[in-house]
Amino acid sequence: MSSSVVVSQTVAELRARLDAERSAGRTIGLVPTMGALHGGHASLVARALSMCDVVVTSIFVNPRQFGPGEDLGSYPKMLDDDIGALADLGCQHVWIPSTGEMYPEGYGTRVELDGPTDVLCGVTRATHFGGVLTVVLKLFNQVGPEVAFFGQKDYQQALLIRLMVRDLDVPVRIEVCPTVREPDGLAMSSRNRYLSPEEREQAAALNRTLGALEEAWRAGETDAARLMGFARAFIGRSPLVRIDYLEIRDPATLAVRDGPVRAGDLVAVAAFVGSARLIDNRQLTDG
Ligand code: PAF
Repeated sequence: MSSSVVVSQTVAELRARLDAERSAGRTIGLVPTMGALHGGHASLVARALSMCDVVVTSIFVNPRQFGPGEDLGSYPKMLDDDIGALADLGCQHVWIPSTGEMYPEGYGTRVELDGPTDVLCGVTRATHFGGVLTVVLKLFNQVGPEVAFFGQKDYQQALLIRLMVRDLDVPVRIEVCPTVREPDGLAMSSRNRYLSPEEREQAAALNRTLGALEEAWRAGETDAARLMGFARAFIGRSPLVRIDYLEIRDPATLAVRDGPVRAGDLVAVAAFVGSARLIDNRQLTDG
């Protein structure tokens, strides 16, 4: 059932509205997004509504987290549908700043973290995490949420945001919510819209490969190189899927796992499927 949702487009109007919510004693949750909302976003909003009185969903395609040649120009935009979906979910506020509102003339600050920003996605997307952290810190300062909600699919992003919040004493709690999947296991992503039917079918190989690697590990193989060799051969059966990286890492530091692969280790994959670059991950469990 659709309820009314308030759309703010300037920092001043957003702050005035959220100050009124705070004055009324309401707690505020933030769900940062780039729009083109799907079931993964819906699950973040639902979780936020279960924990906070008021939920703000931001929709901002952040140019600073896209590198040259990436999909900034073609990133799906469907604002009316997104606002309607958020109203149906019961989200009370939508924050839709323009690029000029977010980065006014003369804007010059960037968040840089001495942490694992240059591994996994940071290898092919060198400026990506600086851009993400910068906009997320701005969103935290604009909204002032008690809690902010992110998806587990973007594991590295969530980890780096936690480190930034810790290092800069940002008064917000970070909640990381499980990846939401299509029936064949493909992690939901706004970029899945780029896939042709054939690519869409083969894209499910990402999650299947993570599952196959986990099965091999559960069956007793603990050597990282052999597990990755097995997983690469497995994904090779889907010729439209071109691996960017497939790695087993320490879940806390993202350091390469040396020694036997163990429960809790992070298996992370990124792959190009047609024009889409898709990511997925899982933490190994004993089953
Ligand atoms: O995960 C995303 O959609 C984006 O990286 C985020 C957190 C909204 C920042 O632009």
